[in-house]
Amino acid sequence: MIRERKFRARLLMAVCLGGVVGLQGALLTAGAQAQTPGEPPGQKGQSGQAVYAAVCAACHAAGVLGAPKLGDVKAWAPLIKEGQKALTRTAIKGIRQMPPKGGNASLSNAEVERAVVHMANAAGGKFKDPR
Ligand code: HEC
Repeated sequence: MIRERKFRARLLMAVCLGGVVGLQGALLTAGAQAQTPGEPPGQKGQSGQAVYAAVCAACHAAGVLGAPKLGDVKAWAPLIKEGQKALTRTAIKGIRQMPPKGGNASLSNAEVERAVVHMANAAGGKFKDPR
């Protein structure tokens, strides 16, 4: 079938997103999310860790599609050098196999930036959380 390849690509996306939904479901069932999920006091939106767990981990935990893994110091060193603002811009816009905002358009730019901070700092970066 001519459509087979396109279908496979869609299926891969669906599996990836399915993992995300499954994870959120598991968190909800466990009652881990009180009122506003992952919202730290004094900040608007979710924390970097919450965004990472809900969205970015789908690819960045195992290195799906060649994504730099959480805590992989070697992979993150050149990225950290680019600086927080440049790296955040890339994460918002997307690059190659990395979809814009990790494929979740409902994330605010600050939430994406916090997730970038979370991942960079897990690999030795010294980025700071935006407000
Ligand atoms: C569908 C899988 C997927 C998801 C979900 C995902 N990423 Fe990625 N990400 C990638 C891949 C693949 C790359 C490597 C891109 C490349 O260099 O070719 C990448 C690279 C990156 C980079 C490095 C960009 C650079 O300059 O090379 C950052 C920063 C990043 N992701 C942040 C995030 C954040 C933040 C999230 C969650 C909001 C996220 N990603 C979710 C797949 C994903």
